[in-house]
Amino acid sequence: MLKTQRCEASQIMLGKTLFIAGGLVAAIGLLAAMQSDKPPEGTTYLEPSPQRDGSPAAGYQYLLYGDFVSSGIPLKVFRRVSGANSAGDLDRTGDAKGIPFRFNVATTPNGVKVVAPTCLTCHAERLNGQIVVGLGNNTYDHTADASASFQAADFAVKLAFGENSPEWEAYLPASRATKSIGPYIRTKTRGPNPADKIFAALSAHRRAADLIWLDSAQFDIPLETVPTDVPAWWLTKKKNALYYNGLGRGDFARLASASGMLTMLDSAEARRIDSHLPDVMAWIRTLEPPKYPYPIDQHLAAAGKKIFEQRCSKCHGTYGDSVSYPNLLVSLEKIGTDPLLAQAYKTHPEYHSWYNDSWYGKGVHKGQLLPNDGYVAPPLDGIWATAPYLHNASVPTLDDLLNSPQRPVFWKRNFENTEANYDQGKVGWKYTTEPSKTDTETYDTTLPGYGNSGHRFGDKLSAEERKAVIEYLKML
Ligand code: HEC
Ligand code: HEC
Repeated sequence: MLKTQRCEASQIMLGKTLFIAGGLVAAIGLLAAMQSDKPPEGTTYLEPSPQRDGSPAAGYQYLLYGDFVSSGIPLKVFRRVSGANSAGDLDRTGDAKGIPFRFNVATTPNGVKVVAPTCLTCHAERLNGQIVVGLGNNTYDHTADASASFQAADFAVKLAFGENSPEWEAYLPASRATKSIGPYIRTKTRGPNPADKIFAALSAHRRAADLIWLDSAQFDIPLETVPTDVPAWWLTKKKNALYYNGLGRGDFARLASASGMLTMLDSAEARRIDSHLPDVMAWIRTLEPPKYPYPIDQHLAAAGKKIFEQRCSKCHGTYGDSVSYPNLLVSLEKIGTDPLLAQAYKTHPEYHSWYNDSWYGKGVHKGQLLPNDGYVAPPLDGIWATAPYLHNASVPTLDDLLNSPQRPVFWKRNFENTEANYDQGKVGWKYTTEPSKTDTETYDTTLPGYGNSGHRFGDKLSAEERKAVIEYLKML
């Protein structure tokens, strides 16, 4: 009896010990899980913010036919100068039929039809014979001073209509803005984009409260133009913060609507443009990356997936059957890529202060620019299609990106995004290594802002492992 009692008691004791031990194990597990949820050292989690909903179909229509830049070259002058051309681009109808896909036909507030740039000036690109809307423009030449071409256009518009015409009035905001900012927005190399600087230069010329144009700049426009590689739109839906340094917070539609700053008359027009942007963002959220069109070695890619998940996923997330994306900002110290873009917003606080105090930074759906000392680790969906790599487009192929000593210092490509120019082994556009910068088509990584340092996470891979990771990246 006593024996059984003792036995029962010891069983209870054992049960309790097991229970406590089990609890401890669970607690340690939980703690470990919490620790792995903590962002890796040198990284910060970017919090999401609420976004407005919209209609994707209406958004796409707005992209093709909308008038968020509502000043430009009068359609009649444009047709006379450019003649019949490029019919069929994006299959547009009406006045936009036959107009190059980088431009829209907009009707100005005083009723004149003008040809004006659009989001697709920078956010569409040719790839293997097709126009891919959402692929960043990587071929445009921003090295020349755009104000020069407007001097010529001034002459053509005056000659056609005279200075006291509705056409001149419709054209003037585009000419005025481009001539004011043109000298400041030149890149040193064909390919990368000066959009950050365009924004900075325009903010110097607009009154914050009502966005009215000011002929003389309110603050100095610093001389350096930091080049950026236009990011692919199909990545945006995963991101909690926009832009390479995670600068763009709050309402994304409001942030994107700032493109209207080029020519709009005032904040009433900004409000009208802003009302369409939730639709555009809704359309952008439906985009999927283009599929890799060449053969993939599935066996090698499966080996690459394992290596990627060990070495890369903590920053870039997971793909395929279990999708995750950690939304991390990586400090400049840890990433080591060219610091100038991130630093520019810190050394010139007048631009983001202007934005946050302006019409854009007010109200329920306000946008916010909050600079950071680092770069976002981007999602890598469709990465095969978006060469060259890094925020400044300084590295031509994935093979070079994952083997930093091999990156070319001076390099050049022919800017024809065709199958014949695609390097399926190194993954990116074929290029030649040059001895020095000979012309605007040579990428010179020794210039400030154009550096190709950092992101050395692929250096330690063996040649075999690197090949496998690259094969896997083709599948994303
Ligand atoms: C002059 C070229 C240009 C025009 C025009 C332009 N963009 Fe951009 N856009 C860029 C560049 C360059 C970036 C990246 C800037 C950075 O991260 O520093 C960008 C970034 C973005 C992003 C953030 C993407 C990301 O993943 O962080 C969105 C969204 C966007 N643009 C939408 C638009 C919309 C909508 C329009 C039209 C209303 C537009 N853009 C017009 C050049 C342009
Ligand atoms: C500590 C975080 C971190 C790790 C680990 C990491 N990356 Fe990155 N990666 C980044 C950041 C941040 C950028 C953007 C840097 C920039 O543009 O200046 C980037 C950029 C890239 C790009 C270029 C993206 C583009 O659109 O140009 C590729 C490709 C890439 N990483 C692949 C990898 C692979 C493959 C691995 C693993 C071998 C890896 N990364 C490991 C943070 C990381």
